[in-house]
Amino acid sequence: MIVIKSRDELQRMRKSGRLAARVRDEIVRLVAPGVSTKWLDGKAAELMEALGCRSAFLGYRGYPGNICLSIDDEVVHGIPCERRIEMGQIVSLDVGVVHDGFVGDTAATVMVGVTDPEVVRLVRTTEKALVEGVARAKAGNRLSDISNAIESTASAAGFSVVRDFVGHGIGRKMHEEPQIPNYGPPGKGPVLKPGMTLAIEPMVNLGGYAVEVQADGWTVLTADRRPSAHFEHTVAVGEDGPEILTIGEGW
Ligand code: MF3
Ligand code: CO
Ligand code: CO
Repeated sequence: MIVIKSRDELQRMRKSGRLAARVRDEIVRLVAPGVSTKWLDGKAAELMEALGCRSAFLGYRGYPGNICLSIDDEVVHGIPCERRIEMGQIVSLDVGVVHDGFVGDTAATVMVGVTDPEVVRLVRTTEKALVEGVARAKAGNRLSDISNAIESTASAAGFSVVRDFVGHGIGRKMHEEPQIPNYGPPGKGPVLKPGMTLAIEPMVNLGGYAVEVQADGWTVLTADRRPSAHFEHTVAVGEDGPEILTIGEGW
């Protein structure tokens, strides 16, 4: 796991985080009925190029897209394709960029004219779980305090957290130690120290926690085919609490 050692490294992580957030927010605005996930992926590629960064995903273990777009019962790692977004769906988008040697990773789930109150509650709860997890990313806490806050938030609302995919340390590489499960008891794992940079990412299912990987080798689906939501921030543990690096600023 990277522990930021200098002001310079922190500034570079901040920059990568802001760029990832910028791409995420621009793509969120383009999500609409009739738009294909491939078109959104192309827009993300154009934007990354214009901003002077590149996709952290393209070519990662052979991943063919610039971003991930996962609809309804697709949990994460949906590959952009000709499928068009429809009213009533939820679309999870995950954006990772590399800039100046450092990675920013962020995700959000967008509701496209959703009227089912349970689905609305799922999406809101998953975002709340992220906020609760991030709030625990402060010096002196243990890593699993983050995990436990996420699981508690999801289960209090009657939902389940995915167990087969986890958050992670992040820095010069997208996936660094440690793994950050979205479940488990508090008070375990490494003590958090200023300068640690973490990607915190609850994946919450409306039904059961079980998932399966589709035949394409990437797309993760809920086993019961009920919807799933995903939110992610890259966060730095600071002296006085967490600093969210993937927050956009007035661009
Ligand atoms: N960004 C994902 C994560 O949050 C990983 C994407 S894997 C890729 O960890 F192959 F799609 F890049
Ligand atoms: Co991600
Ligand atoms: Co991640």
